[in-house]
Amino acid sequence: MPPIHPDLAEKGREIALARPQLVHICEACQGESVKWQGQCPHCGEWNTLSGPTIVGAGRATKPDRRNNALVPAASASTLTDAIHAVGTTAERLSSGIGELDRVLGGGLVPGSVTLLGGEPGIGKSTLLLQVAQAVGVKRPVLYVSGEESAGQIALRAQRLGGGYDNVQVATETDLESVLSLAHGGNEGGSPTLLIVDSIQTMSLASVPNAAGSVTQLRECTAALVRHAKTSGVAVLIAGHVTKDGAIAGPRMLEHLVDTVLYFERDAGSRFRRVRAAKNRFGAANELGFFLMQENGLREVRNPSAIFLARAPQAVIGSLVMVTRDGTRPLLVEVQALVDPSRLSGPRRIAQGIDAGRLAMVLAVLHRYAGTELQQHDVFANVVGGLEIDEPAWDLPVAIALASSLRDVALPPDLVVFGELGLTGEVRPVTFGEERIREAAKLGFRRALVPQENLPRIPVPGIEVQGVGRIDTALNAALGRAATVQSRNV
Ligand code: TYD
Ligand code: MG
Repeated sequence: MPPIHPDLAEKGREIALARPQLVHICEACQGESVKWQGQCPHCGEWNTLSGPTIVGAGRATKPDRRNNALVPAASASTLTDAIHAVGTTAERLSSGIGELDRVLGGGLVPGSVTLLGGEPGIGKSTLLLQVAQAVGVKRPVLYVSGEESAGQIALRAQRLGGGYDNVQVATETDLESVLSLAHGGNEGGSPTLLIVDSIQTMSLASVPNAAGSVTQLRECTAALVRHAKTSGVAVLIAGHVTKDGAIAGPRMLEHLVDTVLYFERDAGSRFRRVRAAKNRFGAANELGFFLMQENGLREVRNPSAIFLARAPQAVIGSLVMVTRDGTRPLLVEVQALVDPSRLSGPRRIAQGIDAGRLAMVLAVLHRYAGTELQQHDVFANVVGGLEIDEPAWDLPVAIALASSLRDVALPPDLVVFGELGLTGEVRPVTFGEERIREAAKLGFRRALVPQENLPRIPVPGIEVQGVGRIDTALNAALGRAATVQSRNV
């Protein structure tokens, strides 16, 4: 046989590549297998191969059109039709708890799946039972627990008070049984809300792995998502997160569900906050605040009060700023401490703010306000354990740092917000006027804000001063005399 010309061999390979092919793709490693099998031959994970997918067309230069028959029949509808279809069902289901509804973007969406993650003992079961009881006043709810006995749940429900006529409780860990109950397989009829506590205790008999394993978590969540989408039932799932961030926990499930809420707290505090990390139906990063009490979680309607633990006297290195959590203004105290360093590389410790941005603020202070902190250890902290990820903390932290360096106390009725630019300018932030109004509402009498955030109409009860540059801002907050009289340490 004559040898095949290299050009021809290349041609053949091209055509082979171009032909669409049915393969099974592993969800864990993206490896492809021609036939379906229980275990992925590439990474060894079980039950991770997805249904057949077409690959190949378009990989090479000449797609083979004869094989178009392989493309599955798809259907599409106009967006207008889709909007009409959801028009009647998209009414949200109130969780009965205002702060939780806020975080959800107005309540639970029928047919959606919400994951509530948090470390053990933080109050997930308590919150979910409170939701069950609140929704259960009017509508059927199925509360499934794989962690507690019916007796334990009953005791807790009594402690929490409230109605429970429409709440069905099941202690079950087999997800097939849970789904059959949710399909109306019990006398309570099919529920409007299905609560599963927790996803780590659920398992599907068709998956060989133990409950809590990566595959079980993923398969059980996927089954609950399918159930929610086909039945229109709102599903709330609790998921444990370990202190070190949880590799095999809810983070891995985030992409499967519609909404992800995290329940958080600061060590030793009775306050809890629920944060929306992902929300297909509302704003992400929205926060809801709660207080854990003897009879369950109580909403905190005015969360600024939690973070304003500041003494009513003038204090060195402490200042109140107005930040935003999701859609509402929030007053928090920022603190700074600077101290001559004995180290060749002075320390920069930031809590609740970005350390890299703190370095930028220090550089701006040095270059444009003559505030030299290169030989000092610098500590900056947001009181109450909150993380602020908007630049509005730049100016208040800069002023608190200068206050600490110069030993000048800051007035207790002053609030500050503003971003700093690299040329020493004070830049405006979003929703300036709303922030000023919130400060006035909480009794603050002076505000130092970016020039461009000055309100068009004066806000009653508060004197607002606009600043354009870092040096004028320091003068305004600390007094001109203080700028020159820096403390010689
Ligand atoms: P729990 O809801 O069981 O936490 P999770 O489901 O996230 O593991 O909450 C447990 C803690 O909450 C426990 O330490 C007791 C406390 N708690 C109260 O302080 N008051 C209450 O009314 C309830 C029900 C619990
Ligand atoms: Mg629990």
